[in-house]
Amino acid sequence: MSHQDKSLFTTFAAVLGFLVVLAFVFYFVAQTAVGNKDAAGDNSQATQTADENIKPVGNVVVAGESSAGAASAGPRSGADVFNGFCMACHGTGAAGAPKVGDKAAWKPRFAQGMDTLLNHAVNGIRAMPPKGTCGDCSDDELKGAIAHMLNETGFKVKVDAAAPVAAAAPAAADGKKIYDTTCMACHATGAAGAPKVGDKAAWAPRIAQGMDTLAQHAVAGIRAMPPRGTCAACSDDDLKAAMEYMVGESK
Ligand code: HEC
Ligand code: HEC
Repeated sequence: MSHQDKSLFTTFAAVLGFLVVLAFVFYFVAQTAVGNKDAAGDNSQATQTADENIKPVGNVVVAGESSAGAASAGPRSGADVFNGFCMACHGTGAAGAPKVGDKAAWKPRFAQGMDTLLNHAVNGIRAMPPKGTCGDCSDDELKGAIAHMLNETGFKVKVDAAAPVAAAAPAAADGKKIYDTTCMACHATGAAGAPKVGDKAAWAPRIAQGMDTLAQHAVAGIRAMPPRGTCAACSDDDLKAAMEYMVGESK
């Protein structure tokens, strides 16, 4: 009996020892896997950035789609968005990004004005990816992140993320202004198959649908044309005015 107990105990101790060793093995495997995942994450981000550079069209559409979901999410602070998304490049100067704190690099950019900076942040510019890789960021959140970067660099900008963008949307419907800041991204270049402003042949059959239909499509979107042409802050009247401007330039 006692002999049996003893051998049971020996077996039990051996199993216990084995489990302890196994726990260590799992721990180190897990550590290594996490390390690899980080490295892989960096790679895929770099690849994604490269993809975004070669395929701006696809990204504009993706950005438009994801901005629809952003409305439901609570706004993040400029610092949060910066730390989560922009810091990767703007903290280090990676990919030639203007570094936070580098006043000389930011000065000419700051001089363009907030509307232009926001427009470039939303649509991307050269190596700067659309929305700075924050696909579900609202314009307000991006604006907050820009203000955060500018303030950290020594420029004085209001960090109030919520108000300025809404205020920046033209109060009176100014079709050309809305076109220049939003619709132009696709309609100046023909990106995503958008009818180019000035291309009479492309616009004639669309104009033939009637202005009401065009206005409705500008608001609701149609096929690759995103709802509100990605201008979430635009009223229906604003969109109609932008559409009328485009049609006027394309007759
Ligand atoms: C993958 C790297 C990368 C990330 C991530 C990134 N940026 Fe940039 N950004 C750049 C580069 C590169 C430039 C310079 C582009 C140029 O002017 O050639 C730039 C320029 C800018 C500019 C100046 C545009 C102008 O008109 O001069 C703004 C504003 C900006 N980024 C905002 C942001 C915001 C906001 C985020 C985070 C939500 C962000 N960026 C994330 C790479 C990045
Ligand atoms: C992300 C790219 C993109 C942006 C930004 C964009 N559009 Fe478009 N738009 C398109 C594409 C693509 C089409 C063609 C859709 C189709 O007919 O398949 C289109 C078509 C249209 C049409 C014609 C619809 C019809 O019935 O033939 C109107 C009007 C229009 N856009 C207005 C606007 C306005 C106004 C803005 C800015 C507020 C805007 N778009 C911004 C991509 C865009």
